[in-house]
Amino acid sequence: MRVLLTGHQGYLGTVMAPVLAAAGHEVTGLDSGLFADCVLGPTPPDPEGLAVDLRDVPAEALAGFDAVIHLAALSNDPLGSLAPELTYDINYHASVRLARLAREAGVRRFLYASTCSVYGASGDEPVTEDAPLRPLTPYAESKVRVEDELLELADADFTPVFLRNATAFGFSPRLRADIVLNNLVGHAHLSGEVKVLSDGTPWRPLVHALDIADAFTAVLTAPREAVHARAFNVGTERNNVTVAEIAATVVEAVPGSTLLITGQTGADPRSYRVDFSRLRAALPGCEARRSVKEGAVELIDAYRRHGLTREAFERRFTRLARLADRQAAGTVGGELRPR
Ligand SMILES: NC(=O)c1ccc[n+]([C@@H]2O[C@H](COP(=O)([O-])OP(=O)(O)OC[C@H]3O[C@@H](n4cnc5c(N)ncnc54)[C@H](O)[C@@H]3O)[C@@H](O)[C@H]2O)c1
Repeated sequence: MRVLLTGHQGYLGTVMAPVLAAAGHEVTGLDSGLFADCVLGPTPPDPEGLAVDLRDVPAEALAGFDAVIHLAALSNDPLGSLAPELTYDINYHASVRLARLAREAGVRRFLYASTCSVYGASGDEPVTEDAPLRPLTPYAESKVRVEDELLELADADFTPVFLRNATAFGFSPRLRADIVLNNLVGHAHLSGEVKVLSDGTPWRPLVHALDIADAFTAVLTAPREAVHARAFNVGTERNNVTVAEIAATVVEAVPGSTLLITGQTGADPRSYRVDFSRLRAALPGCEARRSVKEGAVELIDAYRRHGLTREAFERRFTRLARLADRQAAGTVGGELRPR
């Protein structure tokens, strides 16, 4: 298939592009490059790509593709809360516009990177895709609105699919340090301390970046009737873990590190357990396989091998800090368009 992969220079896109290529797809990227140089270790070989802002994508850019995988976004809750209007412009309006252009250009399948954050604070019972959506942040709200509008676009020739990913973990050459496992392993590496600011009880379902790539690759070529206009949680029940359990796993993976649970109430009220059975049922064999422990071991190896420094961890690989630094340096404008 000829696939347009937006966000190909992000954390997940950098892992997904080679997985798609290995499955025989012809991949073209699209990214404004906000984090293109945020690389740990050797620079990855990117597919051919368009350097364009999502808000400015011309209609011609969609011509000739069989499918779009749409990852590009301001991609986390704190980032979205810092600049809610930009989050709605990029994550919501520009995403819906991209989908309309794709449909008009005859693209048949549109895989949308949604999030389990749409479930908000859902308690202890695992939530299925039919659970009420309770987005708690502009980021999660923007994802819900896109799902709603893409559903309206679905027809005989256009198949949108919503992949609600759990929180990702694992090594990517374009690392993100602001997601929970990657962050806790970083602290263990740099200070020997695994510090949990909350009481550790919130549920945080996790999924390895490569398992997300595998799920998107499977959905790309799945029979239309199995996936048409449907939402799928992406992850595994085995990785439905509490923050305290994640921290304990990190301590195990990084010998010599110690666990500190401060018990302060964190600012983040999200807590949800997720049921991942729909994707397994729709696409037998499609299931996230990599464990949190494997991810922690992989990350500490990579951090050590590539010499992750505190400065890089706190600034280069932390989305919010990186954008603030680029704005201060004048390489990104107020509306987050690279200059
Ligand atoms: N990482 C996770 O834990 C996670 C979990 C659930 C869902 N998701 C979703 O998956 C997608 C990818 O996440 P990620 O972790 O790779 O994020 P990321 O921040 O690493 O990558 C996002 C990419 O989008 C690009 N981008 C942002 N704004 C753009 C714009 N206006 N125009 C063009 N490109 C733009 C950035 O340059 C970046 O390369 C996002 O939609 C995110 O919401 C991620």
